[in-house]
Amino acid sequence: MYAQLVETGIKRLKNLDEMAPQERAFQEKIDAEIKIEAKNWMPEAYRQTLIRQISQHAHSEIVGMLPEGNWITRAPTLKRKLQLMAKVQDEAGHGLYLYSAMETLGADRDEEIARLHAGKAKYSSIFNYPTLTWADMGVVGWLVDGAAIVNQVVLQRTSYGPYARAMVRICKEESFHQRQGYELLLTLMREGNDAQQAMVQDAINRFWWPSLMMFGPSDADSPNSAQSMAWKIKRQSNDELRQRFIDQTVPQLELLGCTAPDPDLKWNEERGHYDFGAIQWEEFYQVLKGNGPCNRERLETRRVAYEDGAWVREAVVAYARKQQQRHTAA
Ligand code: 3HC
Repeated sequence: MYAQLVETGIKRLKNLDEMAPQERAFQEKIDAEIKIEAKNWMPEAYRQTLIRQISQHAHSEIVGMLPEGNWITRAPTLKRKLQLMAKVQDEAGHGLYLYSAMETLGADRDEEIARLHAGKAKYSSIFNYPTLTWADMGVVGWLVDGAAIVNQVVLQRTSYGPYARAMVRICKEESFHQRQGYELLLTLMREGNDAQQAMVQDAINRFWWPSLMMFGPSDADSPNSAQSMAWKIKRQSNDELRQRFIDQTVPQLELLGCTAPDPDLKWNEERGHYDFGAIQWEEFYQVLKGNGPCNRERLETRRVAYEDGAWVREAVVAYARKQQQRHTAA
């Protein structure tokens, strides 16, 4: 796949014999599957690519708390409320984990969060869609976290050590997120009335295509993939992971007794994969530009939460300083 990306001329990559000795030694470590650690020499472009990707990943986790957070107070049972609270808390932890991994590269957490609040940083497009009904909570767990798992399981093998290790714990918790979402939908489909079953199908209709967009643009339109794959930051391409997600999700869709809003979705025996319809990339790029249904609302909510939480951060820093002084004085 990576060779095709390079052939398409997205980015002509340097060969080993074109590299300076230090960069060549670095690439040979990458090729030998030796993890790169924070203290190791790395090309500045490798470091910047990781800061870009990990900061966006962390932002996605934090903004990703919002669509579900809206439903904690409206969960239909105590069990569902507890599940949703646990999931939202997990996402907060994933965000903090990833900001810490980002900081090992010398990036400043406050600066990156300020860029997010100023609308200058990306986060996953999927979180700019509204969660209108309770069935959306199931679909977000099943499709959104399901897509995130496909992407993140592969990231456990990314070449940068702190990022790969952060993924191991995050993937374990994501599996719970995906299962609780799917179980919620099975309950609605098997025990719910017609209106509740229709609510599930409506949620799938709204989230199906935006979930496929989570994997990024098609390989031919991905400016970062070729280099990220040469550095083994990205181990599989956007299209490969999107296809894997579709192939594993369609049988689950059928078990629910639901359909996807894609008349072209059908099994292709020859390919051994599902064929699917054209993604509306114009919508994707509009969301990336900030013109999605909820972009402004999500960023405003994050800005207000960050300001409201300033006193907590100040108290924690003051306490840590006091502890440090006591430790130094002892
Ligand atoms: N939403 C927003 N921006 C996206 C995007 C998406 N779904 N897909 C791609 N983009 C952006 C890229 O960031 C890049 O922009 P940039 O150069 O300005 O940063 C541009 O579109 C071109 O895309 P590329 O494919 O060339 O970029 P990458 O090589 O970075 O690949 C990616 C994109 C596959 C998302 C990769 O960055 C990645 O794997 N990131 C880590 C995983 C991640 O961030 N997942 C987001 C969801 S996390 C989540 O859902 C948490 C769960 O618990 C709810």
